[in-house]
Amino acid sequence: MTNRIPETVIEEIRQANDIVDVIGDYVQLKKQGRNFVGLCPFHGEKTPSFSVTQEKQIFRCFGCGKGGNVVSFLMEMESYSFYEALQHLAERSGKELPDTGVKKESSLSQESQSILSAYEWVTKLYHHLLRYAKDGKEGYQYLQDRGLEEDTIDAFHLGFAPNAKDFTAEFLEKKGFHRQILVKAGLVSLLNDNSVSDRFRGRVIFPIRNHLGKTVAFGGRALGEDQEPKYLNSPESDLFQKGKLLFNFDLARKYIRKEGQVILFEGYMDVISAFQAEVRNVVATMGTALTEYQAKLLKRYVDTVIICYDGDNAGVEATSKAADLLRTVGCDVKVARIKDGLDPDSFIQTYGKEAFQNEVIKASETFIAFYMRYHRKAYNLNLEGDRIKYIEKMLEQLAMIDSPVEREYYVKELSKEFDISMDTLIGELENYQNRNKKQQDKSEKNRYTNSSSAPVRNKKLLPAFQNAEKKLISYMLQDATIAEKVREELGAAFNVDEHKIIATHLYAFYEDGHSADVSLFIERLTDQKLNQIVIEIAMTPVIDDISDKEINDYIKVIRAQANDVTDIQSLKSQQRMAERQNDPIKAAQIAKQIIEIQKQLKNTN
Ligand code: GTP
Ligand code: MN
Repeated sequence: MTNRIPETVIEEIRQANDIVDVIGDYVQLKKQGRNFVGLCPFHGEKTPSFSVTQEKQIFRCFGCGKGGNVVSFLMEMESYSFYEALQHLAERSGKELPDTGVKKESSLSQESQSILSAYEWVTKLYHHLLRYAKDGKEGYQYLQDRGLEEDTIDAFHLGFAPNAKDFTAEFLEKKGFHRQILVKAGLVSLLNDNSVSDRFRGRVIFPIRNHLGKTVAFGGRALGEDQEPKYLNSPESDLFQKGKLLFNFDLARKYIRKEGQVILFEGYMDVISAFQAEVRNVVATMGTALTEYQAKLLKRYVDTVIICYDGDNAGVEATSKAADLLRTVGCDVKVARIKDGLDPDSFIQTYGKEAFQNEVIKASETFIAFYMRYHRKAYNLNLEGDRIKYIEKMLEQLAMIDSPVEREYYVKELSKEFDISMDTLIGELENYQNRNKKQQDKSEKNRYTNSSSAPVRNKKLLPAFQNAEKKLISYMLQDATIAEKVREELGAAFNVDEHKIIATHLYAFYEDGHSADVSLFIERLTDQKLNQIVIEIAMTPVIDDISDKEINDYIKVIRAQANDVTDIQSLKSQQRMAERQNDPIKAAQIAKQIIEIQKQLKNTN
């Protein structure tokens, strides 16, 4: 299957896409020694055990054990077929996959493919109408009145659905789409008399793109303020799940990576206005509360999330909920405040982009400052009882702050405001800290006793010959001349069966004229189990300069093991022979010899 595209093309595409860069599209990677580490995208975790090497162009998670090269990463991450993964990489690096006439396997169902294609056509159509046609003039006027520039309208492919009953249906049916698909896609609605009506007619269209930039749904904004609903969204489908998607994530991704933080909004228009105001690391939920899925997704990309919701009461309540959720998944939260109860979009329209950048985003407050302000409302600080409860609640929260500087800053604030000595407050704070610590110790303990979540790296010690074999293979993977030497001296005489097979494959790989390239090697190795062993070996760090002596020592250990095993085998058959010949004395002598060798083996191992 994989061989239908010429090897040279696959090679070229693979080399044009650095694995650190590609995985960086999904995970925030931080340099650690020679590797890059981050939170594994394949299993939930709070401390990083996902590791990528640039030298070897492979990745491995020490938590869940998944590993591979850039192609298998995309296959796993996007549920892509091999072909789709290559196509993604080709597009990413501005190359083209030759049309080999191979059946282009897709991971999507026929239906999903049709729906995507329908959305692509209609996005273009609605955008074209809004920009250039009489039928879309109303929409264009509306967006212009809301302060959007043409570049912005183009960047988001904003459009207008003409106010006609079956304009869209006709357009798409002419393109060969079936009615049922269009109904399913939510582009048209089926009426009682079996006719169809354009679902978004008379609305401004906000295409909702997935993280790959494909439009999977529309949000349709009514032109009039009294028209209900204000926003009409496409129905949920396999391709569009509100709780899993973040509006504008695809465009924001590179800015999020650059800034190391993301700004979270509630509305489409907030994102679009901010984008126009040159604040581009911006995403929004889809009119629903932030979900755990979305919070975890963000955590994988950034440490800091700035919540920028509406300045009204509902906005502040939603901020508190989103902040809690983001903090539980481990994000550092900041809160951008918008005055006068405005929403971010109207703030930008009223006060301009500099004010938004400087007075809102750059001036965003720490979570704790928000927290103090937010909880004030619930207490009557004129009453002593309430005052004490409030202070205790704040200290409890402050006890969770890691930074001593930040902690002291807020304790001082409390001390000043409520006229309580710093000593008293700090004493109380320490009580909370100790309590937290005890709880943490307990959960740490649970973590280690719970075998299902224990990291796989804590394996028991291996016998010496197994270690020697792994080390040797590791060097053979990174240096063809070492492989050659081992081939001459040891051939396939490894003791572990898998190592034997891997070595044999590796000799053949170098024989084919390849130079050391783990990423390519594992692509050729179709056996999944062997693949994972190679990755594990390759990801275990070894020193660069290995002496001939060291190699010889490894070879010796491996040979000795093999000899001893052969010795024992032949002694055992001699022993059986002696027993059969009714020679118990000889049999006992041999048994003693066997035990001796076994003892020796144990010692050297
Ligand atoms: P504008 O009035 O166009 O500026 O919208 P907004 O972004 O200020 O909207 P608002 O703050 O009222 O709502 C935030 C988000 O909630 C919107 O972007 C939509 O995603 C969603 N939303 C708002 N109204 C509706 C509605 O009537 N139905 C649905 N399904 N979603 C809505
Ligand atoms: Mn608004």
